[in-house]
Amino acid sequence: SDTQYDYDVLVIGAGPGGYVAAIRAAQLGLKTACAESRETLGGTCLNVGCIPSKAMLHASEFYDAAANGAMADMGIEVSPKLDLEKMHGQRRDAVKGLTGGIEFLFKKNKVDWKKGRATFQDAHTVKVGDETVTAKDVIIATGSSVTPLPGVEIDNAKGVVVDSTGALELQKVPEKMVVIGGGVIGLEMGSVWNRLGAEVVVVEFLDQLLPGMDGEVRKEAGKIFKKQGMELRLSTKVTGVEIKGDKAVLTLEPAAGGDSETLEADCVLVSIGRRPNTEGLGLENIGLEPNKRGQIEVDNDFRTSVDGVWAIGDVAPGPMLAHKAEDEGIACAENIAGQTGIVNHDIIPGVVYTLPEFAGVGLTQEEAIEKAGGDKAKVKVGKFPMMANSRAKTNHEPDGFVKVIADAETDRVLGVWAIANVAGTMIAQAAQAMEFGATSEDIAYTCHAHPTHSEAIKEAAMAVQGKPIHI
Ligand code: FAD
Ligand code: NAI
Repeated sequence: SDTQYDYDVLVIGAGPGGYVAAIRAAQLGLKTACAESRETLGGTCLNVGCIPSKAMLHASEFYDAAANGAMADMGIEVSPKLDLEKMHGQRRDAVKGLTGGIEFLFKKNKVDWKKGRATFQDAHTVKVGDETVTAKDVIIATGSSVTPLPGVEIDNAKGVVVDSTGALELQKVPEKMVVIGGGVIGLEMGSVWNRLGAEVVVVEFLDQLLPGMDGEVRKEAGKIFKKQGMELRLSTKVTGVEIKGDKAVLTLEPAAGGDSETLEADCVLVSIGRRPNTEGLGLENIGLEPNKRGQIEVDNDFRTSVDGVWAIGDVAPGPMLAHKAEDEGIACAENIAGQTGIVNHDIIPGVVYTLPEFAGVGLTQEEAIEKAGGDKAKVKVGKFPMMANSRAKTNHEPDGFVKVIADAETDRVLGVWAIANVAGTMIAQAAQAMEFGATSEDIAYTCHAHPTHSEAIKEAAMAVQGKPIHI
């Protein structure tokens, strides 16, 4: 350890990027501290993101199954009563358990938690609250926050115009909820309140939901959410939100311009994306400037342009996902320790945890064709509907399909997309196969247990070869 500094490594931010980087650095024998301004560790993901949203999604699935006939279809007659406070309680318990778990892991690995907001004085000196901490290497893992909609004020406590944090904590089921942005947060949180009885309208600027996903998947998403009772207003933008008493009045306009109209709601969720947290970090003191998108640029090792300063997770370029942040945290700590830490950014799965789940890894069909110079013949696609998967059919889960995209010449798998109740779990095998450089034939000839949803991946791979069995 270098005695010139208090620590070998100081990590700023204790989200999935930062806390994982800190633990790995400590495991590698580096004296490590982690600065976090929140009262609990775990960042956005554990406190107000991945975990509490899944707690509400899971609980609301049960309510929906009981209230809307899915249980009755299987011979279980119930008339559920919603105890929303208790549902929130189990959400808070999940968060408490997991954030407490990180505190335990910090102690176990001897990572010092410096409570407070961190500001760079110079590249090796950071003020955390009232304390000054020096470190040989500093990792910026400050994450992201909701992108505001100009002119629209979020007030989570009031609960009329909220961001995702407010949408997790609504004290009553809104009669009518308008979701601005048909992306991941809008559809997950919209699903929660739709299942619990709210009338949900999703206003999306683009002509399809879920930008970034495969075209066919996006189209199917539209059909599925409509079938679940959400109203979709695609190619539409919100130009203003006015508060009138305890209601909000939104002004909508066609995305291409045209006549505006108004829409009243009890609750408005602003979910139009997130932006990196760099304000107040004192980046100007170390001569580091974010790029046009507000991100801190890094090289493949996660080094910024300033010697000894590294960046990972949502604050750095790439998808804003917890597992991407975690993998970068591990690789970055390993690089600081002189090892070779690598993240394959081409194979990062993405999952939307609605019901069914929407998942994908690798290229979309559109991207694959574009990469092949626009030559459709160079890309092979195999599809298999969940309706023909015995397990999904038996479980009354007919929605969705699996799609395997492969290089027509080499048969190497370029992308896999899945809409299925457990698509998030299914996609892991696709990521692993792709990481091992699998061909679609490799997947088609791998024995899959029966009856499982995962057999649909095998069959979609067989369909790439032109010979599925069950369709
Ligand atoms: P963060 O988790 O944002 O952590 C950064 C931490 O740094 C914060 O705790 C912050 O308080 C702290 N910090 C910031 N600035 C300072 C400072 N100057 N000094 C001290 N501390 C500071 N991703 C998934 O993969 N799966 C999901 O299911 C999923 N669900 C989500 C649901 C919601 C509602 C939201 C909002 C996000 C979700 N995400 C999900 C995204 C995921 O939360 C982020 O990608 C992930 O948290 C990024 O990790 P991070 O470590 O980069 O940053
Ligand atoms: P998003 O980028 O997924 O979706 C935002 C949507 O809003 C886009 O479809 C966009 O076209 C639309 N939009 C933008 N401006 C608009 C406007 N003025 N009017 C109408 N629509 C508009 O962002 P979201 O949902 O806020 O989530 C932020 C990030 O959090 C995601 O990108 C994701 O990385 C992460 N996240 C991940 C989850 C997961 O992995 N399951 C769950 C929740 C969040």
